[in-house]
Amino acid sequence: MDYRNPTTSTCFLVNPNDIVFGGWDISAKNLAESMERAQVLDYDLQRQLKPIMEKMKPLPAIYDKDFIAANQEARADNVITGTKWEQVEQILKNIREFKEKNQVGKVIILWTANTERFSDIRVGLNDTSSNLLKSIKENASEISPSTLYAVASIMEECAYINGSPQNTFVPGVIELAEKNNVLIGGDDFKSGQTKFKSVLVDFLIGAGIKPVSVRSPRATWWMTWWLLTQSCMLQERKPDHCVVIKYVPYVKDSKRALDEYTSEIMMNGKSTIVVHNTCEDSLLAAPIILDLIVLTELCQRISFKILSSSETAFQPFNSVLSVLSYLCKAPLVPKGTPVVNALARQRACIENLFRGCLGLPPVNHLDLEHKLSDAASWCTEQPEKVRVDQEKVNGFIKSKHDAAFDWTHCRGHCPQGAAMRFIDN
Ligand SMILES: NC(=O)c1ccc[n+]([C@@H]2O[C@H](COP(=O)([O-])OP(=O)(O)OC[C@H]3O[C@@H](n4cnc5c(N)ncnc54)[C@H](O)[C@@H]3O)[C@@H](O)[C@H]2O)c1
Repeated sequence: MDYRNPTTSTCFLVNPNDIVFGGWDISAKNLAESMERAQVLDYDLQRQLKPIMEKMKPLPAIYDKDFIAANQEARADNVITGTKWEQVEQILKNIREFKEKNQVGKVIILWTANTERFSDIRVGLNDTSSNLLKSIKENASEISPSTLYAVASIMEECAYINGSPQNTFVPGVIELAEKNNVLIGGDDFKSGQTKFKSVLVDFLIGAGIKPVSVRSPRATWWMTWWLLTQSCMLQERKPDHCVVIKYVPYVKDSKRALDEYTSEIMMNGKSTIVVHNTCEDSLLAAPIILDLIVLTELCQRISFKILSSSETAFQPFNSVLSVLSYLCKAPLVPKGTPVVNALARQRACIENLFRGCLGLPPVNHLDLEHKLSDAASWCTEQPEKVRVDQEKVNGFIKSKHDAAFDWTHCRGHCPQGAAMRFIDN
């Protein structure tokens, strides 16, 4: 039988209302002024939010004009000065002060600033954590602001998420995160259009239809595309064509996209689907930001134990948190592990993780009990080995104590079976 229960009612997710927000921006405007400048929200909504937003003022940020488009220079009036290492130290100080001032247990840092150009990855520069730290101390120019934030975040044991397409996570950052057991995740928010693409292509392939081309003649994300046409974004990367997209004041944040999916079908036939999408893109991205934070925070509290003949200890997730793939356009995964791009599989991973936290078996949609010719033969009792410890589940929900659930029913995924521990704090 299917049960529907909001995940929040199982009490293991952080309530977004309990999150304290703070951050950095190269522009000194308070958030009410930024909200007005962005012209995303209705005027009346802006009016109602203004008293709250005007109290929020960003901290001075790390700015390097070599990494973002030249049109940002005019607004960069709130920047941290000094060498790169001094900038890292300032971010560390900001994080500690934020924790102290707001009395929060945890800080998670998420990059939602402008897209940077790609950084070069060079041996000796940023290929290992020690080379990266050395390069920062030597003030090497090729270390991007987002990498500096990531390094500070990891040093302060705060998870770091990258919502933009750039390669913040150079090998040295990944190694540093692994050494410090800090979660990192990304890259690039998967908002509406990309999410839809991964659904449609997944469907076409699953239906035995062969997609051969996806064309997006679009005048959207004007800023991102504009950035890409800037010279600094194209260093050593030769485009095969150049797109110039102008901001359309009337359209504002309302993204227009027209995507054409062409597939080959039987006997040389062709199937073309054209999708038109209009949406305020930022309003699709904002809930993704919250979901990324809530999910990352949960993952920090989960550990696993592989059941084998020899005793093993509980272990946390790999530092590269691929569970976030559902929310990211270019999922970052641990080296050597497969990238899953199909949206349904990415979502199933999260759903089964939540179920595991409650000691429930993963969903496989087989529903064999409804497909039997002799329905009476179905055994509702689970074998001893795979039985969910309902007492512990109930105990957990009532008392919110640490809980350890036997997840041996996960055998399909782990040959030895696994136990999962979830700490509610
Ligand atoms: N749907 C979406 O909105 C969406 C989807 C996927 C990815 N993204 C990515 O999110 C990022 C932000 O997008 P946006 O539309 O909110 O951009 P935006 O231009 O509206 O806002 C970016 C903000 O970052 C600030 N900034 C620039 N450099 C900074 C730095 N070094 N440190 C701190 N602050 C800095 C700017 O002053 C500005 O206030 C982009 O990289 C974009 O590609 C957005």
